[in-house]
Amino acid sequence: MGEFVKVAKVSDIPSGEIRSFVVNNEVIAICHVNGKFYAFKDECTHMAYPLSDGHLDGEIITCAYHGAKFNVKTGEVVAMPAVEPLEVFEVKVEGDSIYVAID
Ligand code: FES
Repeated sequence: MGEFVKVAKVSDIPSGEIRSFVVNNEVIAICHVNGKFYAFKDECTHMAYPLSDGHLDGEIITCAYHGAKFNVKTGEVVAMPAVEPLEVFEVKVEGDSIYVAID
């Protein structure tokens, strides 16, 4: 479990959207789903393209490149061609600040 690092403000990520941030030399994506925030490595496990280019539908993100789908809450693969789950990070919100636990 990593240390919580302040990454963004709640107002930076409108509901239903994804934003990408560099934290500790790692590119992570944070998405906003119905008032909750989920963070994961911004790299599709299929061919490592940025998942933040993809489309979010509820908790499911679809990769813009070859259509793999993942659950952003759990990281699990929902549709091929990806087979490996996403690396997800714990998120906490305090006031207007979003913190992500990164190693
Ligand atoms: S890089 Fe995401 S599906 Fe291929």
